[in-house]
Parts: sequence; structure tokens; C-alpha cells
Amino acid sequence: MFFKKKMQHDYDLDMHNIPGHIAFIMDGNGRWAKKRKMPRTYGHHEGTKTIRTLALEANRLGVKAMTVYAFSTENFKREASEVEYIFKLPKEFFNLYLKELMENNVQIRYIGHLEMAPIETQNIIKEAIQRTSVNSGLILTFAFIYGGRDEIVEATKVICEKYKNGEISLDDMTEDYFEQHLMTKDLPPVDLMVRSSGECRLSNFLPWQLAYAEFIFDETLWPDFDEEHLHRAIAIYQGRERRFGGVLK
Ligand code: FPP
Repeated sequence: MFFKKKMQHDYDLDMHNIPGHIAFIMDGNGRWAKKRKMPRTYGHHEGTKTIRTLALEANRLGVKAMTVYAFSTENFKREASEVEYIFKLPKEFFNLYLKELMENNVQIRYIGHLEMAPIETQNIIKEAIQRTSVNSGLILTFAFIYGGRDEIVEATKVICEKYKNGEISLDDMTEDYFEQHLMTKDLPPVDLMVRSSGECRLSNFLPWQLAYAEFIFDETLWPDFDEEHLHRAIAIYQGRERRFGGVLK
């Protein structure tokens, strides 16, 4: 499903049907920069502003959790200079916005292999997590050095180890039990996944968690994605019938 960008529209949102958890694939930063004859890194820089904008608006609307795909395990294939630049963005992001996110009661978390990031990046993210840990508003999770298949394999290894040690039997292995071993175990189910820039792929983002989520592929490039695009995505979500495998009543 595609939607053209730029519209001035006031969406009449049903405040009793706001998605509890929205996951974003932040795509299109490079193309956004290229259009302006700027380096790709400038697109990532501008893209961080969108995270702030959407987190504040999602929080205001009563969304419980927002997860953003900031860096995939596959993104290491990019030029070293681009990877290095992305690894510096958390510092810039939290220097600029942590105070405001605190004031708005936003809690920061991450999923992924943070230990693979430079130590300074790790420390910045850990500090933001620690400082916001008591906040009870929106949970803003950064999927950073994250890969969905890797997450499933890691969870499986932990469970196999428990089985090998006799801690569990095969009957203990249920979907709920498995889910408790994923990095997202403390997050609410994902209701809505939005990917910007018109690409229609999951790119290894939350493959387990998105099994019953609604998907919206929006043509807007990530740095241009704003509150209005968020409202539009929620309005579309609210127009969908979610049946979870059942039938329409
Ligand atoms: C995809 O666009 C975007 C990324 C791989 C990086 C996204 C990262 C951010 C927006 C900033 C992260 C911020 C923090 C605080 C961790 P692309 O480069 O693939 O775009 P293209 O498809 O147009 O080339």
C-alpha cells in the first residue's frame, strides 16, 4: 500500500484504538541526502530528528512503545565511514534530546548487540537507559546492531542449553516460553510496522514479533516523515480489521 507524501490533513484518530507498539524501519536517509546533493551521512543526521519528533508525538498520543531500526547486523556491509558516522549518532541524539525525552517521561531501551559498538557509543546508550529507567511514558527502543534471525538463533541456543541441563522438558517449549527468550520479552506486542521510503521488505527486522502486526509501507523518505505521517499511519491502522487468524464478526 503506497501513499504520496505531503498532505495537509487533520486525521480524526480514535483515541481508544491507538496502537500499543509501533515499529519503524527508518529507510530513505541516503536517497533524501542524494536528492540534495549531500553525503548519505547527512541523511542519517537529519533522520535522527525524525526519531525525536515521532517519539514525542507517539508519547503524546498514548502509544506505549516505539521501536526504531537504527542499525542492522547487515549494515556492517556499508562503507566504514558511514558505519562510523552512524555509531556517533547516539551521542549527538542524546546530547540534544535526552533532557527533553526525560521531561516527557520517555524510557530508552535497546535491543541488539551493543557490545559490538565502540565503547563510547555503548556508554552513551547505557547512560540514557539508566537515566530514563524509572520513566513510565513511551518506551523508545533502539534496535541497534540488531538482526531478527540472529535473535531467534540466540534464543534457541539458550533454550537448548536449558534442555540439555535438564531444566526444561520438550513440553515446556511453547510460543510464550520462546518469546520470553527474545530481546523484546518485556515489550508489548507490535501492532503496527511502518517502513518509510517505499521499500516493501522486512530486512530482518523483528520477524517473530511482526507475525500479526499491520504493515504500512509509506513512500515518504525518513527525514521527511513527521507527525502528520504518523497520524496518517495510525488512521490507516484504525481502518484495518485485525482478525488474528479468526473470522469477521
Ligand atoms: C536506512 O536508510 C537507515 C539506516 C541504516 C540508518 C538509520 C539510522 C538513523 C536514522 C539514526 C540512528 C540514530 C540513533 C540515535 C542510533 P538508508 O541509508 O538505507 O537509505 P537509502 O535506502 O535511501 O540509501
